[in-house]
This record gives sequence, structure tokens and C-alpha cells, in this order.
Amino acid sequence: MNYKIAIDGPSSSGKSTVAKLLAKKLSFVYVDTGAMYRAMGLYFIINKISCDDEGNIEKSLQDINIDIKYVNGEQQIYLNSENVTDLIRTDLVSKYASVSSAYLKVREKLVAIQRELGQKNNVIMDGRDIGTVVLPDATLKIYLTASQEERVERRYKELKQKDSSILKEDVEGGMIERDYRDTHRENSPLKKAEDAIVVDTTKLSIEEVVDVILKLFIEKRGNYNEKIK
Ligand code: DC
Repeated sequence: MNYKIAIDGPSSSGKSTVAKLLAKKLSFVYVDTGAMYRAMGLYFIINKISCDDEGNIEKSLQDINIDIKYVNGEQQIYLNSENVTDLIRTDLVSKYASVSSAYLKVREKLVAIQRELGQKNNVIMDGRDIGTVVLPDATLKIYLTASQEERVERRYKELKQKDSSILKEDVEGGMIERDYRDTHRENSPLKKAEDAIVVDTTKLSIEEVVDVILKLFIEKRGNYNEKIK
């Protein structure tokens, strides 16, 4: 039996930063599921398939291979054997990932890979449907959140490093649209699992968030081990 930590939440709530640090501390495998939807989105962009063209997206799924590998503990994402880790953090890819991830067939394909990773390893996995759909039996489920203002600020700072001409209002507009889509879609929308614990990161440092989740995990692990004795 292995341990599974599920972290869900809206964009820029701090999921991946925190999950990466926790994975290091616990020597768990970190799985960034958003990167998988992003790699798919990149495929649609490269192959000129519109992100809302469900029919062609479904047809193309047989031609798409998404793989995860780990180099020095860092997740690398492969699209048809090409490492695309550095190509998936653009606004266009964010939009393609958010729109195309609403389709059931896209989700089925990626959820299968995610569940397999969760069966084989001690994992910490982040995304939108990890606690609700991918790992419903997770040892610990966290719903990470922060005020919209704080999340926009974080994302703006991150994007500004790559593109100094970026405008905060554009970042805000894109984020509101994406979060609305991710929470209102029919298939596996972002929502707090009933048994998830909400952690609001607005006023907390990264280290403080890691600390809170670590304590929660140690507590859960104790209860869990007691149960299976
Ligand atoms: O976590 P992220 O921002 O990199 O994710 C990009 C998009 O992928 C997000 O807008 C919605 C989708 N996604 C999803 O539907 N389910 C997940 N488990 C992870 C991401």
C-alpha cells in the first residue's frame, strides 16, 4: 500500500510550488497533471486543431502519446517522445489546456496514466480533479486556495519575468475565464472533495503552507496506519 496526497485548487493557488517541495521532503513522486493537459493542448496548437473542435480532438487522441519521466527528481513531460517541458507555460497553451480538458475522452486518457502512477508510487499529485476523481482514496486531500487578487499578482509576476510587456489586466482576464471554465464544465469540474481540507495560502509564505500540509499528512498517516494494523 502506498501513500497518496491529492492537491486541487484554482490556478496560481500555489499547488505546484508547494507539491514539489513536499515531494522532496517526503521523497514522494510529484505528478503535475496540469502539465499533461498542457502537452495535449500543445499538440492541438502544433497540428492546427482548434481547442473547441471536440470531434477532431477525439480523432487525434490515438496519435498522441504523453509520457512523464523524472530527471534529478524533476518531472519532464514528453509529447510523442519529445521533451516539451519548457514549451507548455504560455498563455495560449493555458487556454488550449483549459478548453480541451473539458472533453471526456481527453480526460479518460490522462486519468488512466495518472491513476497508474498513483498505484505504483508514493505520490503527491496536483490538479483539479485529483481528490474527487483520480485518487478518491488519497491518504490526504488538500484544496488549496488564495484570494483572486493574490493569485493574479503571483501569475503576473511569473509571466512578467518572461515577457515584460505583459499587462496585469490581461493576466486577470485570462485567469478569471480559465477558472470559470474549469469550475463549470460538465466533466470533473474543479471542486473541493468532501473530505478535502481547505488551506488558504493568501497570507502564508510557501514554507508555511508546506509546513501546514506536512503536519496534516503526518497526522493522517498515523491514523491510516492505525486503521490498517
Ligand atoms: O494546473 P495547470 O494550470 O497547469 O492546468 C492547466 C489546465 O489543465 C487547467 O486550466 C485545467 C486543466 N486541468 C484539468 O482539467 N485537470 C487537472 N487535473 C489538471 C489540469
